[in-house]
Amino acid sequence: MRLAFSLLALAPLALARLPDGRLHGNRPPRPLPPSVLAPDSTQVVHASTNATLPPLDTIYYFDQLIDHRNPSLGTFKQRYWSTWEFYEPGGPIVLSTPGEANAAPYTGYLTNRTINGQIAQQQKGATIVLEHRYFGLSNPFSDLSVASLKYHTVQQAIDDLAYFADNVKLPMPGGDQVPPSKAPWILIGGSYSGALTAFTKINKPDSFYIGYASSAVVESITNFWAYFEPVRQYMPKNCSSDVEAVVAHFDRVLTSGNNTAIAELKHLYGMDDVVHADDVSGALRNNLWNWQDLDADSGGSVFYDFCDAIEVKDGVSAPASGWGLEHALTAWGTYWTSTYMQTLCGGDGAEDCLGTYNTTQSFWTDTSLDNPERSWMWLVCNEFGFFQDTAPPYQPSIVSRIVTISGDERQCQQMFPEAFKGPANPKAWKTNAEYDGWFLRANRLFIANGVRDPWRYATVSSGFVDIPSTPQQPIAVGDGFHCSDLITRNGAVDPTILKVQQSSLSHIKKWLAEWKPAGSGHYYGRGNEL
Ligand SMILES: *[C@@H]1O[C@H](CO)[C@@H](O)[C@H](O)[C@H]1NC(C)=O
Ligand SMILES: *[C@@H]1O[C@H](CO)[C@@H](O)[C@H](O)[C@H]1NC(C)=O
Ligand SMILES: *[C@@H]1O[C@H](CO)[C@@H](O)[C@H](O)[C@H]1NC(C)=O
Ligand SMILES: *[C@@H]1O[C@H](CO)[C@@H](O)[C@H](O)[C@H]1NC(C)=O
Ligand SMILES: *[C@@H]1O[C@H](CO)[C@@H](O)[C@H](O)[C@H]1NC(C)=O
Repeated sequence: MRLAFSLLALAPLALARLPDGRLHGNRPPRPLPPSVLAPDSTQVVHASTNATLPPLDTIYYFDQLIDHRNPSLGTFKQRYWSTWEFYEPGGPIVLSTPGEANAAPYTGYLTNRTINGQIAQQQKGATIVLEHRYFGLSNPFSDLSVASLKYHTVQQAIDDLAYFADNVKLPMPGGDQVPPSKAPWILIGGSYSGALTAFTKINKPDSFYIGYASSAVVESITNFWAYFEPVRQYMPKNCSSDVEAVVAHFDRVLTSGNNTAIAELKHLYGMDDVVHADDVSGALRNNLWNWQDLDADSGGSVFYDFCDAIEVKDGVSAPASGWGLEHALTAWGTYWTSTYMQTLCGGDGAEDCLGTYNTTQSFWTDTSLDNPERSWMWLVCNEFGFFQDTAPPYQPSIVSRIVTISGDERQCQQMFPEAFKGPANPKAWKTNAEYDGWFLRANRLFIANGVRDPWRYATVSSGFVDIPSTPQQPIAVGDGFHCSDLITRNGAVDPTILKVQQSSLSHIKKWLAEWKPAGSGHYYGRGNEL
């Protein structure tokens, strides 16, 4: 029943290294929730007064405008979580949204288990987690039909952040006296919400004094084959060699016209009933998508289990060239049918689980709320693209050559037939024109990236354009994966990530020392002081 584009029900980071399940489609770029070392339902004690504060999982509601261009349409309830554990009057307000997810599992972003809380602790600030519109239980309308999705745009999400900062009455002493004119606000995001942070600095320069954008996917790219490039480059060499060989074999057989050979190959991978050739070879991407779950501390990860299954034979590891097609094809097939398929599909049949053409399945038709796959796909199909398919012919590929963006464009149409009369054509160029993409420049925007991040080519650290690191827009790159720097613990595991975190803390300290409230003659917003 779950098809391409569906994604993992949110799991705390601690669970992210266990078998994931249900990671069938293009991966959304988003940070993982920090591990729940202490239940967020326990009481919080104020750092200096020892006063007892509400538990972190206390839900607050903000009256958000449905349409920022037409406030007369009214408001909807937008959920948020907040704590003033470290807050002292005059401290900053640290806001983040997890982006394309139900935000309830993200209350760890209120604590010093994340960079957000470290900043709050260092600067005596308050922290807030705000649920993104059209995700979780923060919805303008009662369903996710195409008509209801009308106000689900990047610009409305940016406007939400600014309007929230201007109007919220935070549930803390003096919480109605901290709009951006009176208190310094810091916007933090990772992945899509990292891009949103950068976009907000560009689009609403007066709202947030400081931005912190981690693994921010600022450049929208429809044909985002480069997603798999960091994977290919940084995965064990023997594993990439063998994956390339197996995938090329799938392509040869699936396009051979030899139905006996095709049936044999599908059978070897338990995909006998999968109808379409691109669904068969496209399914193999699932093992590669597991790379996005890696973290600095990657022991016992699903991704490495996969490589071990192919590369370790009788206790011996293959050389860099791999074992070659014959062994790799059967070893991957055995791992797939004995272990992986169950994790991925549960009890569902292969076609039900991996097929992408059957539009009567609920995946395509279900418009009920709190369905992040659908809400994310709306943004993907309209504004981002980010389709994760085969590399161009001149480039080695760990993804089947018959898996192309036409499949994603078709799926957009299948999910939103009222919106797309034909295959969708996401307006990535427009998003880049609005918010400057790779070329973005803002003041007091800290940018953090990881070289092993599969999303790196959509960030300013792509290497495609030369964006300098400056005192106003520092770019710190560690050896991390996706949004690794947001999680405090990763700094303890990897010194390069610790360096990124420490650099952000010192920049933020310096910038906050220069902050003055509006009307005090200080000019803190617009313009490039770079
Ligand atoms: C808060 O608790 C700590 C540890 O129990 C104690 O050392 C400190 O004096 C307390 N502070 C106040 C203001 O009560
Ligand atoms: C993080 O905050 C907790 C209180 O929530 C505190 O006990 C702990 O010492 C802090 N960690 C560090 C490294 O300061
Ligand atoms: C070969 O594969 C093993 C098991 O996955 C891995 O530990 C090792 O680093 C790989 N070696 C090379 C040269 O790629
Ligand atoms: C088709 O594939 C089968 C199984 O691999 C093989 O035995 C047979 O020779 C192939 N037929 C042709 C015409 O290549
Ligand atoms: C398509 O999906 C529906 C709903 O899950 C199912 O009943 C039907 O058998 C599927 N059709 C095919 C051809 O697999």
